[in-house]
Amino acid sequence: MKFFVDTADLEEIKDLASTGLLDGVTTNPSLIAQSGKKFVPLIAEICKVVKGPVSAEVAATDYATMLKEGQFLAKIAKNVAVKVPLTPDGLKVCKVLSDNGTMVNVTLCFSAAQAILAAKAGAKFISPFVGRLDDIGQDGMQLIRDIVEIYKQYPTTFKTEVLVASVRHPVHLVEAAKMGAHVATIPPKVIRQLYAHPLTDKGLAAFVADWKKTGQTILDAA
Ligand code: G3P
Repeated sequence: MKFFVDTADLEEIKDLASTGLLDGVTTNPSLIAQSGKKFVPLIAEICKVVKGPVSAEVAATDYATMLKEGQFLAKIAKNVAVKVPLTPDGLKVCKVLSDNGTMVNVTLCFSAAQAILAAKAGAKFISPFVGRLDDIGQDGMQLIRDIVEIYKQYPTTFKTEVLVASVRHPVHLVEAAKMGAHVATIPPKVIRQLYAHPLTDKGLAAFVADWKKTGQTILDAA
């Protein structure tokens, strides 16, 4: 399973990239606004730090402008994945860009029917938003289960990767992994939560204390 980080905070991205566990980055207009940075140079910087796909979202909603924006964003770096909304115009843009070899991430997916359309439009990634479905009392993870199952029926024609988005906690991630989702885009806070277990902390404290009692150092023996 690939891990993308869902942030436009360059320092966070650098820090997480240093773990060696980061496969890509997703941004969206809200995250760019939060960063307070200029969009295009920021995406260029992120693309230097992380070699995997970096999603950069178009701002327009009409076909012609979205296409121009997408073509422009794709030129920033080879690893840009142009993010388009799941609308009729967005999917038209997805088809054109994908046919020309650009990675496209189709965002704001809330149904399996939408995910089928994105696969037919040649999307590299489909981004179903699990947390936002949970927020309105629907089952976000059921949507992931459905999309993974549907895509599996068409292994030669549906090449789209399921990119689980709007991840709010580690359980979302573990469930997505059990279902075989290809990618999860995870906020930095949730990535850090993945490491945590109180028994790890307790066990390590005991090992450190017991090791001190031995009076030894490993590197002295090197
Ligand atoms: O980047 C898209 C998605 O992950 C947004 O998540 O938490 O704003 O619903 P959230």
